[in-house]
Amino acid sequence: MRAIVFTEAGKLSLNEVPALVPGHKEVLIEVAAVGICGTDVHVLDGEFEGTVFPLVPGHEASGTVLAVGDGVNHVVPGDHVAVNPSTTCGECELCLAGKTNLCRNWNGLGVVASDGASTEQFTAPAANVYKLKPETDLYEAALIEPLACAIRGYDILPRKMGEHYLVYGAGTMGLLMAQLAPRAGAASVTIVDLNENRRQAARDVGIANVYASADEADRDVWDVVIDCTGVVKAIEDGLPRVKAGGTFQHFGVAPVEAKAGYSPFRVYRDEINIVGTMAVLNSFGRAVEMFEAGAINSTPMISHSFTLDEYEEALAMFRAGTGRKLQIRPNDSKSRVLL
Ligand SMILES: NC(=O)c1ccc[n+]([C@@H]2O[C@H](COP(=O)([O-])OP(=O)(O)OC[C@H]3O[C@@H](n4cnc5c(N)ncnc54)[C@H](O)[C@@H]3O)[C@@H](O)[C@H]2O)c1
Ligand SMILES: [Zn+2]
Ligand SMILES: [Zn+2]
Repeated sequence: MRAIVFTEAGKLSLNEVPALVPGHKEVLIEVAAVGICGTDVHVLDGEFEGTVFPLVPGHEASGTVLAVGDGVNHVVPGDHVAVNPSTTCGECELCLAGKTNLCRNWNGLGVVASDGASTEQFTAPAANVYKLKPETDLYEAALIEPLACAIRGYDILPRKMGEHYLVYGAGTMGLLMAQLAPRAGAASVTIVDLNENRRQAARDVGIANVYASADEADRDVWDVVIDCTGVVKAIEDGLPRVKAGGTFQHFGVAPVEAKAGYSPFRVYRDEINIVGTMAVLNSFGRAVEMFEAGAINSTPMISHSFTLDEYEEALAMFRAGTGRKLQIRPNDSKSRVLL
C-alpha cells in the first residue's frame, strides 16, 4: 500500500510500504479522510518537538475498521470511526496527575514517533478509536479531532452565561471555537480575520459579527478573547480588548521563540486571566457526541480534497492560506473542489 513518508526534516515522498496487521489491542483502519493542519507543516519543517523521522504524517483522521487485534471489543470490521491521535506514557508526573495532554512523553500518531493516517490504511491503539454512527458523514468526521481540541479549550475557560466572545482567526480552529461559543452561553461572538475568504467561511458557518479588524466591531471590550492565529500581532491586538475580570486564551500556537508584549499593570489592575490550552484532554468522546448532534456546521469548513499523489500540492495550498480545511482522501482516485 502507499503512504506519504516524511523521511527527514523538509523531505517527503510517496512510498510503497508493507501492509499492516493489527496487534494486541490495535485496530486497522482504512482511511477515509485526514485533515491537513499547521502541525503537519511544523512536523515536516522539523519544528515540532520530538518528531522521529521517518514518519507517516496525519493526525485528523476518520475511516472504516478493516480488522481488529485481540483484546478489541468495542469496534468490528465495517464500523466507521474517528481517531484520537494522542498517546501518553501514563507514568510521568503529569499523566499521574490526570493532565495527560501535558505528558512529558506525549506522542501523537503522525506527529511524534508513531505513524499517522496519510496512507491507505493505518493502525491505532483501540483506546484511541471512537465508533461513529453509520449515518455520520465519514469525510466531515475528520473534523472531530480539531473539535476535541476546541472542547478542551472551552473546558478551561471560566464560562458564564451572557458573555461576549472575540475570536482572532477564522481558520478551522477559530471557526470551531466561534461556533461553540453560543453553546458555552455566549451572548455574542465576534470573529476577525485578515483574509476575506476566511471571513466568508465564518459567515457561511453562521457567525454574524465578522470583521477584518476588531476596531470595526460595535464593542470595545469582550469578556473572552481567544487567539486562534498564533500570530503575535493578533495576540497583542487582542489582549487589551479583554474586559476587566475577563479572560484571554492562547489557543493558537506561536513560534517557540516568539515574545508578545502586554501591560502587566493592566493584568494586575483588571484581574485579566491568561490561559493556554493544549490539544485534547478527555474531550474526544464529547467531540464525537457534539459532532453527531450537529453542534458544528461542518460542510462549509472543508473546501478541497486531494489524493495521496497530490499531498505536496495540498501542503503548498495550505501554506498559501488558500481554501478552508484541506483533506487528503488516500483511497480516493481524484481531487475534489468541494465548495
Ligand atoms: N491549542 C491547541 O490544542 C491547538 C490545536 C490545533 C491547532 N492549534 C493552533 O491554532 C491555530 C489556528 O489553527 P488553524 O488550523 O485554524 O490555522 P489557519 O492557519 O487555518 O488559520 C489561522 C487564521 O488566522 C488568520 N490571521 C493571521 N494573522 C491574523 C491577524 N493578525 N489577525 C486576524 N487574523 C489573522 C489567518 O488569515 C488564518 O485565516 C494555529 O496556530 C494552530 O497551530 C492549536
Ligand atoms: Zn491538527
Ligand atoms: Zn506521561
